[in-house]
Amino acid sequence: MKIGVFDSGMGGKSVANAIQKALPADEVIYVSDDKNVPYGSKTSDEIYKLVLPILKDLAIKVDVIVVACNTVSTTLINPLREAIKTPLIAMEPMVKSAAEQTDSGIIAVCATPTTLASKRYQWLKDSYAEGVTVLQPDCSDWSQMIESDTVNRQHVQERIEAVCQAGADVIVLGCTHYHWIEAMITEIADDRAKVLQPEQAVIRQLKRVIKEIEQPA
Ligand code: DGL
Repeated sequence: MKIGVFDSGMGGKSVANAIQKALPADEVIYVSDDKNVPYGSKTSDEIYKLVLPILKDLAIKVDVIVVACNTVSTTLINPLREAIKTPLIAMEPMVKSAAEQTDSGIIAVCATPTTLASKRYQWLKDSYAEGVTVLQPDCSDWSQMIESDTVNRQHVQERIEAVCQAGADVIVLGCTHYHWIEAMITEIADDRAKVLQPEQAVIRQLKRVIKEIEQPA
């Protein structure tokens, strides 16, 4: 099986690594739009024009594509699925799991401005987080900071400390770039909040899709 993994930049690489580890016999092809990263403050129209040709090209080479980008998934997964026949697996902030796991009734979602402004994210909150307070710290420069390898711990600490002090006991990493600083965020949260990211859930979904491709009903 050939599995394509796409992100704007290096965020999805952590997802690709986890997939390759879980499915060592399969070939994982990683593609990123290094010329145009970050996507996180671009409009969905701008992103669609950038992503469509890349995914069309990748779709020729693989059996299934993981869109390892919350920004693309939350804004464009439906039009992309219409344009591309290869199965697309989306990644989006784990609002449902966070709402189920919180004891304090307060969660924090770290994501890009475009993800936070998306209808899909709003729908996730309306559907699964009714009665839960959802904090959205300003992470607008995090993907660029990670991309350029200039992670400023103090800066991350200020955001994470603020949500922990506000009572959040679950922190959702709603951008794959932030997976690279998951250990730092977990350390800063220091048992006050659980940190969630969807790699393992995506791998489970990927396995289901692969089974359907191998044994169509
Ligand atoms: N890694 C992406 C995401 O999951 C995009 C980050 C960016 O390009 O700003 O949202």
